[in-house]
Amino acid sequence: MVLKKVCQAIVFALTFSINSVSYADSVASYPEGWETWPVVKESMNLPADTVLPPDTSLFIQEAVRSYSWINDGQGSPLTIRVNPAKLEQYKTHGPYTDGPTVVAVSEVQGIIWVTEHFSGLPLYGSYNRKGEDISNMHPSLEPEFCARCHDTYKDICINGTCTEPVLSSYE
Ligand code: HEC
Repeated sequence: MVLKKVCQAIVFALTFSINSVSYADSVASYPEGWETWPVVKESMNLPADTVLPPDTSLFIQEAVRSYSWINDGQGSPLTIRVNPAKLEQYKTHGPYTDGPTVVAVSEVQGIIWVTEHFSGLPLYGSYNRKGEDISNMHPSLEPEFCARCHDTYKDICINGTCTEPVLSSYE
């Protein structure tokens, strides 16, 4: 199991560095039981016709554009749930211990975005509600695409998590 993760992490690192699109499988594994994880944020995949204010950050513009195809461009509520064992870590954006960390669930299409950590590094994956890997369904669901945002905007995404933790109800 651990060896498998190391291999996946290496393959992922190689794939990312040569910028190939040939390897698209999820790297993070499907976290059984995520349905019972505490909800830390209700958000939205915005509809395709959303008009953003001109001063919207590049990060948000990119995030909205990347997922405007969700639900045929009509947007969807997005629920963010954190592994109960990692709530404290999430509040400070890490450092994270090994294992699944957080999921973002598109309520309409049932897409589950997964961020897991291994040796401090974030790994990404996308699944449907049956636990089937759907990273091949759309280019924006491939792990290397996730990294483009989650590993690039280091002022916003710290240790691979991007949301400003909204955890007042758990304090
Ligand atoms: C273009 C930028 C962008 C890409 C690409 C992207 N994300 Fe995100 N991600 C975001 C933003 C922005 C949020 C915060 C959403 C909110 O709070 O409303 C987020 C939130 C999340 C969360 C909730 C926890 C957190 O980090 O705050 C998970 C889990 C997640 N993304 C996983 C993924 C996975 C898996 C992929 C690839 C399949 C991916 N993301 C691709 C921008 C991106």
